[in-house]
Amino acid sequence: MELYWSYLAYLASTLLFIFGIKNMAHPRSAIRGNRLAALGMLIAVIATLVHISILHYQLIVIGILLGSSIGFWIARQVKMTAMPQMISALNGLGGAASLFVALNHAQVIFLYTDVMVISSIYITIVIGAITLTGSVVAFGKLQGFIPSRSIMIPLHNPLNLIAAFSILYLIGLCIQGFNQAYWVQHLLTISLVLGCMLILPIGGSDMPVVISLLNAYSGLAAAVAGFITQNTVLIIAGSLVGTSGFILTLTMCRSMNRSLLKVFLGNNKHSSIDDLADKIYQGNIAKTSTEEVAMILENAQQVVIVPGFGLASSQAQHAVREMANLLESLNIEVRYAIHPVAGRMPGHMNVLLSEAEIPYEQLVELDQINPQFKETDVVIVIGANDVINPSARVDTQSPIYGMPILNVDEAKQVIVIKRSLKTGYAGLPNPLFTCQHTRMLFGDAKKTVSELSHCLKQN
Ligand code: TAP
Repeated sequence: MELYWSYLAYLASTLLFIFGIKNMAHPRSAIRGNRLAALGMLIAVIATLVHISILHYQLIVIGILLGSSIGFWIARQVKMTAMPQMISALNGLGGAASLFVALNHAQVIFLYTDVMVISSIYITIVIGAITLTGSVVAFGKLQGFIPSRSIMIPLHNPLNLIAAFSILYLIGLCIQGFNQAYWVQHLLTISLVLGCMLILPIGGSDMPVVISLLNAYSGLAAAVAGFITQNTVLIIAGSLVGTSGFILTLTMCRSMNRSLLKVFLGNNKHSSIDDLADKIYQGNIAKTSTEEVAMILENAQQVVIVPGFGLASSQAQHAVREMANLLESLNIEVRYAIHPVAGRMPGHMNVLLSEAEIPYEQLVELDQINPQFKETDVVIVIGANDVINPSARVDTQSPIYGMPILNVDEAKQVIVIKRSLKTGYAGLPNPLFTCQHTRMLFGDAKKTVSELSHCLKQN
């Protein structure tokens, strides 16, 4: 009877996870999706605790209280722009949790006879360890204590290949029962090192892909750990995280026109970028003022706003909304061009703009907006850089060559709001800033947009 109820609870959790993920696919229903999935997890945890005969609840209660308090505190503290780091840290913790479960079972491996369970233990150790150290490196790169560029040691990729084959060989040895305790240590060490080696060469604009892939790994590790603990809901939840992570990874690769293999092989084309920037910008930049931009805007019929990381960083979304309202009151059509990797995480711009209650209908995806730039009177780029860099379209030597970009250079007039001529995330100069029809409006996004609204009100 008890078993019957717990399986019913697991079924309810599974349905809540699936509906949760479905709801998360749209900004309007995303919060509900998050709550449904959280409820599903709560039911799964309670059902597991009731289902399995646990002797001591004290440690579990302390763990839940401690974990919830830390989680609550971090979630309140973390800035929107630091979300990728937070996701990276959570991926690492997910990998570590599965790793510890597997290591615990590896110590009593003699209790198991089922080869499926035995293999799951070793596979979980490998995936968990790779996820843990890979996420620590990704966290360091995003946080800035590890250089974000591609870092490679001599024979980096052949060494990775040797490590991968050694892992397969060691798993084979362990499954056959040869001196398991000894080989498990080696398996663990090689996997921890491989996690670092896999992520170090990845840098710049490829980081979002890595975060999402590590997310998939942490799901996969949890799913395999579910086979060890014979927990159905863990297998299902892990598989859902794993597959959605892989789908997101492939979607992002497509958005950046990069193959997953190329992402992993690293990108070393960053050499003479500073010289290049000097050459491109010298004497070719046209500055403008808020007064002049206000006048340009008043004479426009269609305005497209391109939000980027700088808008998020200065929290300019409400100021942008106010400016857009003013433009609309002058019968000017305002839309927003959304690049899939603008900002620092998937959906960053959608979340940000919806926070300022900008109608979803005005957010236009890259494929739809690109053919319309030629007819657009004015494009205002606010704190975006890489996602509007025409080098991705024309310069075969550029590290971002082939990445789909917003073709704002095709619009009749382009205004770029940023604080300086500094590069964006990929560390590349942007020839758009030197185009004849581009005007640079230097300043902090929020402050500058508020000043623009002030000028619009005065005119
Ligand atoms: P970026 O290329 O990073 O450019 C942002 C620009 O904003 C910078 O050039 C910076 O110039 C400006 N800026 C920063 N703070 C500002 C402020 N307070 N006011 C005004 N401007 C400010 O951003 P993007 O165009 O959105 O492209 C995103 C990049 O991040 C891509 O390379 C993408 O691959 C990568 N990435 C994306 C994700 C996802 S999934 N979205 C995750 C990780 C990485 P100044 O310093 O001169 O102001």
